[in-house]
Amino acid sequence: MSLVLFGPPGAGKGTQSALLVERLNMQQISTGDLLRNSIKKQTDLGKLAQSYMDKGELVPDQVVIDMVNEVLKTGQDNIIFDGFPRTVAQAKALDDLLVQKNLSLRKAIFIKVPNKVLINRLSGRRVCSSCGAVFHIESKPTKVADKCDNCGGNVIQRNDDKVEVIENRLKVYDEFTSPLKNFYLAAGKYIEIEGELPTEEVYSKIKKVL
Ligand code: AP5
Repeated sequence: MSLVLFGPPGAGKGTQSALLVERLNMQQISTGDLLRNSIKKQTDLGKLAQSYMDKGELVPDQVVIDMVNEVLKTGQDNIIFDGFPRTVAQAKALDDLLVQKNLSLRKAIFIKVPNKVLINRLSGRRVCSSCGAVFHIESKPTKVADKCDNCGGNVIQRNDDKVEVIENRLKVYDEFTSPLKNFYLAAGKYIEIEGELPTEEVYSKIKKVL
């Protein structure tokens, strides 16, 4: 019962994935998190990825596809693909990987949120530099200023959550990722969910689809 969660930056893919992992024991594959881990370790892949991510550009398709191929195990079930695929080329590659690894995709869920809400969510987002927990300065503040509620780590703003980079990420999304809607409609897997609702309501809608 694997699924793709897609939508613009700030739609709530990471937030919903965390709930699905915690409550339904699903396994999250987030290409954004994998890339940020590589940056943290300063691997060659991380250095390459950083040059794209800091500008809000997409990391080249083949780099991301190879990375997913490495972590995806044959027969693995209950996966949430978070932020992958992000281009039609990646979606086709995912279809091939699923066949090769004897896996199947149940649905591709699009989380729909208007741009003005996205800008507020992204510019106010803060993340824990240790465990990756996600907060928001207005809607989900930390209990102690700049300290993670879960692990006490330092809570910071992502480089790509600066306003000028956010604008480019939204443009890149419109150009390269929004065509996935037609791709998954044609495959009979597309489901659209209203993402402007409170987190728990969005979660209930996703759970119903599952
Ligand atoms: P990635 O990390 O995947 O970023 P993104 O897709 O831009 O998504 P975000 O993490 O910004 O948002 P989200 O939808 O997860 O929202 P969240 O739950 O955090 O990718 C980063 C970069 O890596 C890309 O720009 C690209 O360079 C590269 N990359 C990654 N994957 C790639 C790929 N496949 N191909 C090529 N390049 C790739 O929520 C946001 C905020 O809103 C939080 O503060 C949260 O608390 C709040 N919030 C969430 N839901 C709600 C709600 N319902 N109500 C109120 N507030 C909410």
